[in-house]
Amino acid sequence: MNDELMIDVRDLHHAYTHGGVVEPVLHGIGLHVQRGEFVVVMGPSGCGKTTLLNIIGLMLTPTRAETVRVAGCETLGLDEALRTRLRRDALGFVFQRFNLLRTISVRRNVALPLGLRGMAADGPVDDLLARVGLAGMAHKKPGQLSVGQQQRVAIARAVVGRPALLLADEPTGNLDSANAAAVLDLLSEVHRADGQTIVMITHNEQLAVQADRVLHMRDGRILD
Ligand SMILES: Nc1ncnc2c1ncn2[C@@H]1O[C@H](COP(=O)(O)OP(=O)(O)O)[C@@H](O)[C@H]1O
Ligand SMILES: [Mg+2]
Repeated sequence: MNDELMIDVRDLHHAYTHGGVVEPVLHGIGLHVQRGEFVVVMGPSGCGKTTLLNIIGLMLTPTRAETVRVAGCETLGLDEALRTRLRRDALGFVFQRFNLLRTISVRRNVALPLGLRGMAADGPVDDLLARVGLAGMAHKKPGQLSVGQQQRVAIARAVVGRPALLLADEPTGNLDSANAAAVLDLLSEVHRADGQTIVMITHNEQLAVQADRVLHMRDGRILD
């Protein structure tokens, strides 16, 4: 065991079963990510990137693995209550489709993770909205913002609780190149300024250049 490792995955296999048909998707993945690293995962559609991220993010239990340690905690065999707690306390998520709540304000969206942990919200939320360039937007509803602005709200929400690990699944997939670059600059800034550990999936080679390390996946395996 090495506590410098934010992610320690060994011999990870996953198969989906639908209608009695078993589809193996991950074939013996090994992945080590150091604390403070910014790692990008690239690979063709269907190669298993989201499956891997969902396992690391405790949203999916793997078929089998030797080890899946996340933020210093062995997640294999952990009961659902502890998985939920680890997810809430140690992880932040950014998705391609933002997943903002449309009926509440930008400020309340960003404050949600703090509310779930019973923490006071307004100070850090307003600081963070200023930092992502949305200081004047706190009272608006997500639908009143551009898609690029909505993704910056989603990033603010993902990092507001200072999670040990930020997981981003094609966070720029719905954005034009200017907005994609702005979102990536924001992630890089959070990485540099806060030492935030980030694992990001992207299709875009140009977005990968800011990473400390780029991993390539094919057919359920990480190539080296
Ligand atoms: N919830 C699911 N149920 C069944 N099969 C799935 C599910 N999610 C993904 N798959 C299948 O697993 C394979 C890998 O998918 P995914 O991890 O989403 O790849 P990627 O993110 O690289 O595009 C694909 O063949 C996909 O159809
Ligand atoms: Mg995917």
